[in-house]
Amino acid sequence: MPFHPHTLSVVLALFLTVPVPATARAIAAHNRIARATAQSDVIVQLFQYNWNSVANECTNYLGPLGYGYAQVSPPHEHILGTQWSSDYAPVSYKIHSKRVTYPYSGTGIGGSPYSPFDYPAVPYTASDFHAECDIDWFNATSIHDCWLPGLSDLRTESDHVRDMQRAYLADLVSLGVDGFRFDAAKWMAVDDIANFLSELSPKPFAVQEAEWIQGSPVQPNDYERNGNVHEFRHTWSLDVAFLQDGGLDSLFQTPYPDWVTSDNANVFVANHDTERSGGDLRSTSSNNAYLLATIYTLAQSYGHPTILSGYDFTDKDAGAPVDSDEMLLDVDCSNGTHRCEQRWPVISAMVKFHNTVSGSDMRRAVAAGKNQISFGRGDVGHVAINYENATWSANIQTDVPDGIYCDVISSCQRTVNVSGGFFAYDVYAYDSVAFHTGEK
Ligand SMILES: *[C@@H]1O[C@H](CO)[C@@H](O)[C@H](O)[C@H]1NC(C)=O
Ligand SMILES: *[C@@H]1O[C@H](CO)[C@@H](O)[C@H](O)[C@H]1NC(C)=O
Ligand SMILES: *[C@@H]1O[C@H](CO)[C@@H](O)[C@H](O)[C@H]1NC(C)=O
Ligand SMILES: *[C@@H]1O[C@H](CO)[C@@H](O)[C@H](O)[C@H]1NC(C)=O
Repeated sequence: MPFHPHTLSVVLALFLTVPVPATARAIAAHNRIARATAQSDVIVQLFQYNWNSVANECTNYLGPLGYGYAQVSPPHEHILGTQWSSDYAPVSYKIHSKRVTYPYSGTGIGGSPYSPFDYPAVPYTASDFHAECDIDWFNATSIHDCWLPGLSDLRTESDHVRDMQRAYLADLVSLGVDGFRFDAAKWMAVDDIANFLSELSPKPFAVQEAEWIQGSPVQPNDYERNGNVHEFRHTWSLDVAFLQDGGLDSLFQTPYPDWVTSDNANVFVANHDTERSGGDLRSTSSNNAYLLATIYTLAQSYGHPTILSGYDFTDKDAGAPVDSDEMLLDVDCSNGTHRCEQRWPVISAMVKFHNTVSGSDMRRAVAAGKNQISFGRGDVGHVAINYENATWSANIQTDVPDGIYCDVISSCQRTVNVSGGFFAYDVYAYDSVAFHTGEK
């Protein structure tokens, strides 16, 4: 289906920037999620794409390649600044960001004036903010109401703030947005988010950022009431398996029973925060770890996956390239800046695998060594992953019917012969094999 850029806007603001002297840093906001096709639950996070590029990607790549949703950066008016994080610092709910090409003036990128506790374009005044206090991490009310450093905190329990939030979301839904990603959801009460989402029709999809912390009085599972929740423990279990020598076979113990339930879980190998963290998997991880972790995530049955589409950076604050007016340039997947992971043949092939095996149980999980694992999905698909520096000559039992299949990891350069319920295959070092009944 065609995608007009205006149908893609979505976002919500949690906190407003406190323009404390020159260091107004903020977070808040939500990215938004727009429908590409209905055939898949896989989301692509089009990090820092402008509207032109979102529309191009949805129409020419995401739909044809089998993805389900595009998640874009926050569309509301935000503070000036080329850093990517300025997108997360709303000053009004005008749909006016680096992604639209209007001239701007004044203080917000859309020209709206703002000053501490005064955002006339919304409007918000001092009474719409919680008094400043430091977060006590063992007190849920304090987590929800006190300030993240430098960020004033909206009184999301108040009628006026809720009215403004609901109106903003309703505006976005009227523009054709299908869902919202609530950044920093953990710093808002579950009931407040429930209120923002109430009265919207059709009911939008929601995914909330509520990272698990041991012993915290605010847990990811609390947010399942409102929709999906990012399950960071999936990401960390990949980090342990691939980067900390935990062994790929340790993944067979996941998901642990206290994780977000599969239907409500959003899973990812990396997002825009974790790829900048230093210790987590990223596309440049050695020994093909990023691709193998992505193959695993798309092959297994837990949660709904998001694929990050990012750009290369040396400075972790740097935004994607902009013009002299600080407007994002169109994405160019061939010039070495944007990585366009969603178009990588192995990833898009595994999205098709994921869509084909959807609803089938995980079975015949075996480990030939702690870093050589294999499992099937019903009688529809099978995968084997070798994270050792030597070829794995595997002979694996599968429920996929006898026949000759395309090895989708090699773009069908190699084939898999299932015979008598087994397939013999040389899985190369730091490589993988995957096949399914959709590609014989
Ligand atoms: C929890 O935090 C809130 C907000 O700061 C505060 O009003 C309340 O007294 C705290 N409760 C306890 C038990 O410390
Ligand atoms: C890619 O395009 C961006 C934006 O025009 C530019 O800043 C960058 O230098 C280009 N990179 C290469 C490798 O051409
Ligand atoms: C894998 O083996 C090759 C050949 O022995 C060697 O050159 C390479 O350094 C090894 N890689 C790792 C990550 O151990
Ligand atoms: C598949 O394997 C079986 C058993 O080894 C063999 O008889 C058959 O010829 C193979 N098929 C192809 C196309 O290689």
